[in-house]
Amino acid sequence: MQDWIRVCATSELLPGESTVAWDGDTAIVVVNHDGDYYALEDRCSHEDFELSAGCFDGEEATIECVLHGSKFDVRDGRALNPPAYAPVVKFPVKVEDGAVWTRDDRG
Ligand code: FES
Repeated sequence: MQDWIRVCATSELLPGESTVAWDGDTAIVVVNHDGDYYALEDRCSHEDFELSAGCFDGEEATIECVLHGSKFDVRDGRALNPPAYAPVVKFPVKVEDGAVWTRDDRG
């Protein structure tokens, strides 16, 4: 069982905001959608570009890859439009001690 990674204080990640955390070599983009936190691997399923370089839409709950324009649903990682078809890996999130935590749970 891997350790949880502290992302930031909840006060530092407000609705509509996103940030990046690292678990070892894994970059994780963490977003606040309407008060709920979600974490995805910061790697587009199309050509591995950093999703965090693109735009998180806090109302649509999507993040758009800046390289070729695929959007992903931040709640489950699924691809919403080509050229990406595969989902992005989703990671668990918890809120504890006033902070947001995540981890790469792929083992
Ligand atoms: S690398 Fe993200 S859409 Fe192509």
